Amino acid sequence: MPEIRSSVTAGFKDFTGDVLVVGCYEEDFNAEGGNITFSSSMLQDLDSICNECLSDMASRFGFKGSKGASQSCWAGSPFKSVVLAGLGKKDTKKEWKSFGKAIASAAKSQKAGIVGVALTDAGGVHAGDVANGIVNGAYESTRFKSKKDESESKVSLSGVEFLFDADSDAIATGVAYARGSLFTRYLVEAPPNVCTPSHLAAAAKHIASICPDRMSLKVLEKQDCEEIGMGLYLGVAEASKEDPKFIHLTYSPEGGASRKIAIVGKGLTFDAGGYNLKVGASMIEMMKFDMGGSGATLGAARAIADIKPSDVEIHFIIASCENMIDGRGLRPGDILVASNGKTVEVNNTDAEGRLTLADALLYAQNQCNAEYIVDIATLTGACMVALGGDLGGMYASTDEVAEQLKKASSISGDKVWHMPLEEAYLEQLKSPIADYKNTGGRLGGSITAALFLKEFVDTDKCKWSHLDIAGPVWNDKEGGATGFGAQLLTEWAVNHST
Ligand code: BES
Ligand code: MN
Ligand code: ZN
Repeated sequence: MPEIRSSVTAGFKDFTGDVLVVGCYEEDFNAEGGNITFSSSMLQDLDSICNECLSDMASRFGFKGSKGASQSCWAGSPFKSVVLAGLGKKDTKKEWKSFGKAIASAAKSQKAGIVGVALTDAGGVHAGDVANGIVNGAYESTRFKSKKDESESKVSLSGVEFLFDADSDAIATGVAYARGSLFTRYLVEAPPNVCTPSHLAAAAKHIASICPDRMSLKVLEKQDCEEIGMGLYLGVAEASKEDPKFIHLTYSPEGGASRKIAIVGKGLTFDAGGYNLKVGASMIEMMKFDMGGSGATLGAARAIADIKPSDVEIHFIIASCENMIDGRGLRPGDILVASNGKTVEVNNTDAEGRLTLADALLYAQNQCNAEYIVDIATLTGACMVALGGDLGGMYASTDEVAEQLKKASSISGDKVWHMPLEEAYLEQLKSPIADYKNTGGRLGGSITAALFLKEFVDTDKCKWSHLDIAGPVWNDKEGGATGFGAQLLTEWAVNHST
């Protein structure tokens, strides 16, 4: 991860590093005939320092500052090269992640270690957002390749200098949020033979070790969970050779807390479906991402370990296991008993996430006394069908908690859509022989899953929200984990601080 700092020189003319990247807006360019000229005085200045190579390059390639576009050119002394990176129109929401990608790819192709970042107009720009985008945009997953890219191993982007008015506290906060996302991406991209329940527990231990004064970790083994009577969770875990790990990481602020909140993440490190085996186009080979909710939970914990918000105690809870097939495994039709004594007829072993979450939600209420609880889960294919790959489904027991999450969503950029907890559909989850069945009909599958969870939450005592992130957890086009939810949850948790 590159180190990001605010430059003491704070001017692009004094920059002594390798590559200078200038973020520019469409308003900075004029097209006159076939030529492109600059209306920005900074670009005009830079162009004359660089023997007009910038205006030449812009005209030749038709570069006009469009969002995501970038062009580099050899500039001669005093810089190795200059890169213009387009940010689009001034008044639109900035895509700092694609700006970060442009910086990372420029650094890579120019074999640059230190990159300077200037903006033609830094007015209204939060340095933290830029830093956040750079850290996320520069992240590349190479750890499962045996041969590292030659060009990469020789020089890698080690530092970024902000050559505009940038507050170093703002940069630190932006980097902390981004580090949370990277932690999530790192966990979610890992295959199921690497990222096991024990691996998630080790990741939680790592976070606790970063901040031992404020973070404490408790990992409940199978036997501990039996003692609490977590029959739904243990029923799912039964067929796996991997030991289940119930992870409970607690952040306690300095000076005590007036509010307790909990984040509960689905932590299926692999979901084969169980006896209701995933067949056909069910994406069984992608089910390593079924711990995406717990990845986001630990990503938020990683960020919180740096940010250390005051006055709020935060519980991070993960009932982690695998959903496999075995002679000992859960049968379709089995009846399980939850830690609150409620019975569930498992009419589909592939609806396992809600079973693990039910016991985890009960733990958050009874063992942690959380007043606000958000659970986050790759819960249903139905939610993916409804909202596509960019948005998560958000359910909430009160308007207040829905508003909290909408606010955190718009700030973090992790998009969610408010979905209905349509009570009438609860009928579908009634079993003739047990208290509940774990699945309803095919229609409204994301809603009935949320309604199942709600049955395990005392909504008079705590305010609860459920995020279904089956769609946005993974980016098919880029072939990678998005880190969705880490920043949304961090923002939500930090907003509970005073
Ligand atoms: N982990 C899956 C949900 C999922 C499926 C996420 C595809 C992303 C892509 C979950 O455990 C599951 O299998 N859900 C079933 C529920 C059904 C049996 C009611 C589903 O969505 O098909
Ligand atoms: Mn499943
Ligand atoms: Zn699942």
